[in-house]
Amino acid sequence: MADGHREAGRRWLAAATCVALAGAVEGAPPRPGQVTCATCHRAEAQSQPKTAMGIGIELPPNQEPLQAHPKLTLEANGYRYAIERKNGVSAYTVSDGSGTLTLPVRYAFGVYNLTFVLEYQGRFYESLVSYYQGIEGIGVTMGDEGVRPGNLTEAMGRLLSDQEISACFTCHGTDGVSQGKLALGSLKPGLNCEHCHRGADTHMQAIAAGKPGPVPRKLGEMAAEEMSIFCGECHRTWESVVGLRVFGEKNVRFQPYRLANSQCFLGDDKRIRCTACHDPHVDLVRDDASYDRACLSCHGVTQKTCPVADKDCARCHMPKVQLPGTPAVFTDHKIRVVHAGDPYPR
Ligand code: HEC
Ligand code: HEC
Ligand code: HEC
Ligand code: HEC
Ligand code: HEC
Ligand code: HEC
Ligand code: HEC
Repeated sequence: MADGHREAGRRWLAAATCVALAGAVEGAPPRPGQVTCATCHRAEAQSQPKTAMGIGIELPPNQEPLQAHPKLTLEANGYRYAIERKNGVSAYTVSDGSGTLTLPVRYAFGVYNLTFVLEYQGRFYESLVSYYQGIEGIGVTMGDEGVRPGNLTEAMGRLLSDQEISACFTCHGTDGVSQGKLALGSLKPGLNCEHCHRGADTHMQAIAAGKPGPVPRKLGEMAAEEMSIFCGECHRTWESVVGLRVFGEKNVRFQPYRLANSQCFLGDDKRIRCTACHDPHVDLVRDDASYDRACLSCHGVTQKTCPVADKDCARCHMPKVQLPGTPAVFTDHKIRVVHAGDPYPR
């Protein structure tokens, strides 16, 4: 990765210098205003915006699951829910025997499973039902399984505090929050480069102006523990999960916590950091065999080998766990020997 883009950047800088010296325009590199990360870091810039993290929130023109299923219905807790698409916008309706509440779906959080952030009388609510890819339909939102709504508004969604709603848009989007306050006019869904690479915009402007400028920190230097904390800012760190006292299968959602509880987790080792298995600039790989290389970088080298199999390690040692009360499935990052019938370990 690094060599390729450095090379490209140096070539570009050399070209820019030549152009400036010769005063030529022909075949000129893009002018400073037109320079983007893609000018020099092509691979990352092309793939990252299309990943789930790069998307983060689907706005009405892109809500594919809702386009593919123009009418979704559910009955839960004595209320009826319908999500219907008309003229390019989905409407979220909840009704009981006596009344009906209908709101437009502007912010669909997620890519595979969608939870809607709804605006009602100037306040924001997290929809009580969500779309789940696994059932191609709607079900009660993760975390709301125990909610027993007492009226139509409560059945529509959970009222979010100012702090919560800002946090939603900070973890799933860019520039939607400014100085702690919602600024949805400037919201760009998903995580951009600057979100993880602090100082990258300044670096781009400097380098595009032909100056050396400050170079953002090389994130590839991080070992396991530091990276878990970095990704854990959103995926939740070990400390935050312990602090929130999320026990049982519910904490399978928090990969940094689960991974830290595995015997495989050596905090100062790079071979068990998040990016040993995931490239944050490309889509999640859903193929067990492709993770073998990471396991085998330790097992068979510095750690013992498996007496049972020599491939598809994740299939047996990283089981899938269904989040209780929801159709959502996660991968247990507490890598371990799994025996049938064992209770879910801490
Ligand atoms: C004109 C070319 C150019 C543009 C545009 C550019 N970069 Fe860079 N970038 C470079 C070069 C060259 C380096 C290596 C600098 C060095 O080693 O001194 C670098 C280094 C980096 C690094 C540090 C990694 C490392 O290996 O040291 C990151 C992260 C980075 N760039 C991200 C970005 C992002 C994000 C953008 C867009 C906001 C961007 N860059 C725009 C050329 C560019
Ligand atoms: C601390 C950062 C953080 C906050 C705050 C946050 N999320 Fe998330 N969200 C994540 C991460 C990380 C994931 C991916 C892992 C997972 O699914 O748990 C995610 C996943 C999701 C998914 C599933 C995505 C999919 O494609 O399947 C939905 C839906 C979602 N969040 C909605 C929300 C809503 C609505 C809010 C506000 C009420 C919110 N999130 C607040 C970090 C956050
Ligand atoms: C600023 C918040 C944030 C940070 C930091 C972050 N993530 Fe995420 N990540 C998310 C959110 C939000 C989602 C869910 C996106 C969705 O489905 O819409 C997600 C989803 C993912 C997914 C699932 C993608 C898929 O296709 O289902 C992986 C894998 C992932 N993140 C890995 C990482 C790694 C590795 C790091 C650290 C290098 C990291 N994330 C850092 C917010 C973050
Ligand atoms: C979710 C966080 C996240 C986002 C968003 C993200 N990156 Fe990265 N990027 C990383 C991490 C973590 C690494 C280190 C990977 C490794 O371990 O080798 C990295 C590595 C890089 C590198 C190699 C230099 C280094 O820092 O190690 C470049 C260049 C880069 N990213 C460019 C981009 C560009 C361009 C974008 C936007 C299109 C982008 N990244 C978006 C997390 C992110
Ligand atoms: C950073 C090196 C490292 C990586 C990468 C790694 N492990 Fe481990 N693993 C260890 C260490 C250290 C132990 C504990 C000592 C031992 O048993 O050798 C361990 C133990 C285990 C155990 C026995 C744990 C138990 O609960 O009895 C299994 C099973 C295992 N690893 C499987 C895997 C699989 C599968 C992968 C890839 C998904 C993987 N490991 C990746 C270092 C690693
Ligand atoms: C040893 C390899 C390995 C490491 C290290 C690793 N993961 Fe994963 N991760 C996987 C596998 C395997 C999957 C399941 C892929 C699939 O669905 O087939 C996965 C899935 C995910 C998902 C999708 C949701 C889920 O649970 O299925 C997220 C998000 C994620 N990992 C985040 C992280 C983060 C954050 C870290 C660092 C704390 C991390 N992973 C470290 C192997 C790894
Ligand atoms: C078909 C399921 C399966 C697959 C695939 C699999 N394992 Fe195992 N593995 C097991 C079982 C079961 C045990 C426990 C065996 C026992 O206790 O006798 C085990 C044990 C282990 C142990 C502990 C060994 C010890 O002596 O304590 C390690 C380490 C391990 N596996 C690593 C791996 C790695 C790395 C891969 C991929 C190359 C892998 N496994 C693939 C089922 C599997």
